[in-house]
Amino acid sequence: MEPIKWQVPFIDLRLAWSREKVDLLGIVDDVCADARFILRQEVEALEQRAAQRLGVKHAIAVGNGTDAITLGLRVAGVKPGDEVITVAHTFVATIASIVQCGATPILVDIGSDFLMDPGLLEAAITPRTKVVVPVHLNGRCCAMETIGAIANRYGLQIVEDAAQAFGSTLDGKYAGSFGLAGAFSFHPMKVLSCCGDGGLVTTQNDEIAETVKRLRNHGQRNKTEIVHFGVNSRLDNLQAAILLYRLRKLDSILARRRSIALRYHAAFASCGNIILPPHPGNPGDRHQDVVSGFVIRSPDRDALQRHLAGQGIETFAHWWPALHRRDNLHLDFSLPVTESVSNQVLSLPVFPEMTDEQVDWVIRSVLHHG
Ligand SMILES: Cc1ncc(COP(=O)(O)O)c(C=O)c1O
Repeated sequence: MEPIKWQVPFIDLRLAWSREKVDLLGIVDDVCADARFILRQEVEALEQRAAQRLGVKHAIAVGNGTDAITLGLRVAGVKPGDEVITVAHTFVATIASIVQCGATPILVDIGSDFLMDPGLLEAAITPRTKVVVPVHLNGRCCAMETIGAIANRYGLQIVEDAAQAFGSTLDGKYAGSFGLAGAFSFHPMKVLSCCGDGGLVTTQNDEIAETVKRLRNHGQRNKTEIVHFGVNSRLDNLQAAILLYRLRKLDSILARRRSIALRYHAAFASCGNIILPPHPGNPGDRHQDVVSGFVIRSPDRDALQRHLAGQGIETFAHWWPALHRRDNLHLDFSLPVTESVSNQVLSLPVFPEMTDEQVDWVIRSVLHHG
């Protein structure tokens, strides 16, 4: 295997494996020796524990976060010809899920917190609008009180893209518990991750939960009854077993991520050339974010990224170029804040196995440039 050349990689997933290897190999052996592969007790246990953790009535494990959004949209009744409102400052999966349903994505601009600007929502609503998809990017909840009130007023459903926000809260309510459905990803880069692809749909609604359960398994209610056509988007039982194990350790993982983010915040507070992301929240604050990414902004982003690469620090410009600026995607919207933010963003390394020395090195290197 290629050795990682970075002194501070953006993330090093091999470190998690070496820490967990003995436990995870035991889990894999236990599941495989008993041939518990598809929709077995580990999937059910994960669904129960995730629902408890997220303060929702139901959690349904699916194949990945993209399917979780698509299934959420399907159960919200999205059909060809409908419009679904979301943002361009997100991973392409959010918009692809809308397109997958045959609907038209309508993109609104974001605020300086990287999240949907609720003040722009109302003007984007038309008689064809069916659903709003707020994206809780970087583990921070969108302004759900305003978005929810507008959606209610116009009879729209909300499907939350909570792919990056497992455990984030706003006013004590968890991401994924505000709308008709919430969609999570367990991709290896996420705060709660499996060893491959995985996802979760959350809902408070019994009927929606039953429908998602059927849809993820070819529309089958049981072994003999097929209610309608669905898809194959079952979470592998092995991945569920790994997720159950990691869910038990989630609090310490989140605490380590948060402590790194707090150090960055304190160190860069008086750095004139850098715009900091929102603070992840002190005890008692309305927002309690999970730090799924630490994204700074710099007018001099490309030079800063080159400088950090020269210091052995790997960074990414998520999400640049902005999706609506890619001609091949045909998303013709004017989104000035998205555009300027996407030209400035730089995601710094933040992962639980990062050492204090690596955090120091990132801080020193950023300050040295700025
Ligand atoms: C904001 C956002 N939405 C959707 C997804 C899609 O999730 P997945 O890769 O599990 O399909 C991701 C992650 O990759 C994401 O970051």
